[in-house]
Amino acid sequence: MRVLVTGGAGYIGSHTVVALAAAGHQPVIVDNFGNAKPAVVERLATLIGSTPEVRRFDLTDWDATEALFAEQAFDAVIHFAGLKAVAESVSHPLDYYRNNLDSTMSLLSAMQRHQVWRLVFSSSATVYGGNAPVPMHEDLPVSAVNPYGWSKAMNEQVLRDVALTDAEWRIAVLRYFNPCGAHPSGLIGEDPTGIPNNLMPFIAQVAAGRRPLVKIFGGDYPTPDGTAIRDYIHVEDLAGGHLAALDRLDALTERLRVWNLGTGQGSTVLEVLYAFERACGRALPHQIVERRPGDVAVSYADVTRATAELGWRAKHGIDRICAGHWRWQSANPDGYRA
Ligand code: NAD
Ligand code: UD1
Repeated sequence: MRVLVTGGAGYIGSHTVVALAAAGHQPVIVDNFGNAKPAVVERLATLIGSTPEVRRFDLTDWDATEALFAEQAFDAVIHFAGLKAVAESVSHPLDYYRNNLDSTMSLLSAMQRHQVWRLVFSSSATVYGGNAPVPMHEDLPVSAVNPYGWSKAMNEQVLRDVALTDAEWRIAVLRYFNPCGAHPSGLIGEDPTGIPNNLMPFIAQVAAGRRPLVKIFGGDYPTPDGTAIRDYIHVEDLAGGHLAALDRLDALTERLRVWNLGTGQGSTVLEVLYAFERACGRALPHQIVERRPGDVAVSYADVTRATAELGWRAKHGIDRICAGHWRWQSANPDGYRA
């Protein structure tokens, strides 16, 4: 299949481009490089064996999006492009709503016009809001606690409404839990700008000596060691979930289907820290501090539906995730700038 991969130069997109090429598909990337480095394209070329086609433009430019679809035929689209930093979404909500909604709408409009009916959309476990019971299953009500989360919830609603307009639509909404890890080559990985918000890249930068210590947000949660539990999923497993969803779309009876992509297992913050220590071979300085506002104690996926309907299941656990993340971080201490 010729697959348009929006945000394909980003963290999850780049890993999925490698998986698509390995499965014999032809990925075409659109990215504005707002949160990606051009160097990723050379790394992808090394991994794939040829330079992938990359179009640099902003998907909120409806004319540019339309022009691409007028020029090229696609069998499917995987839509990763979006802004994703929770705190930034609180300080700049309009940027988040504009970028994350308008990019989807320009894409859907071009797809509709050019009769490209298969779409895989990047959603997030954040749409389960702040009070969901665990394990979280797909039929729980959609909610949110910050503008980033609302932009995902609203995108899901836009997709549900658009799916009603034509019987040809087949849309997979994938709700990711906590993606981390890197390609085993160490050539591509997560390269956050500024101070990382998420746990794994923060630990990795402490291990690399770029930051002095890991602050653990909360040691008094109702969990076995008092630190919060999350469902960390290897980015390669996540990429595999996109291929499985793509394969499933044709046979889908519904026009839109939601699947969780997680492991179904939770790890505490301390368990992640200890796994990273095993990966990098040394103790990492850490300190338990106040809880982070807005955090939930426990989040992990119910993966029954993805297992049954996609025939997909995450293969890698926290040790392999940390080993891969460390391989990437230690080979590229300054990310793609190295
Ligand atoms: P990322 O920032 O690495 O990748 C997103 C890419 O989209 C970037 O390369 C960026 O330059 C591009 N982009 C953003 N807006 C664009 C626009 N208007 N036009 C063209 N390109 C644009 O993020 P990621 O971690 O790879 O996440 C991919 C998707 O998965 C996002 O939609 C994100 O919200 C979602 N998601 C991520 C996580 C996570 O923890 N990483 C969790 C749940 C959901
Ligand atoms: C965060 C976002 C969520 C988003 C997800 C993407 C918030 C409130 N939620 O989720 O919307 O979909 O990222 O992966 O930002 N932690 C520390 N020290 C750190 C960093 C994190 O102890 O320096 C803890 C957190 O308190 C949390 C766990 O590690 O318990 C994981 O944090 P993080 O990686 O930020 O992911 P989420 O909070 O699950």
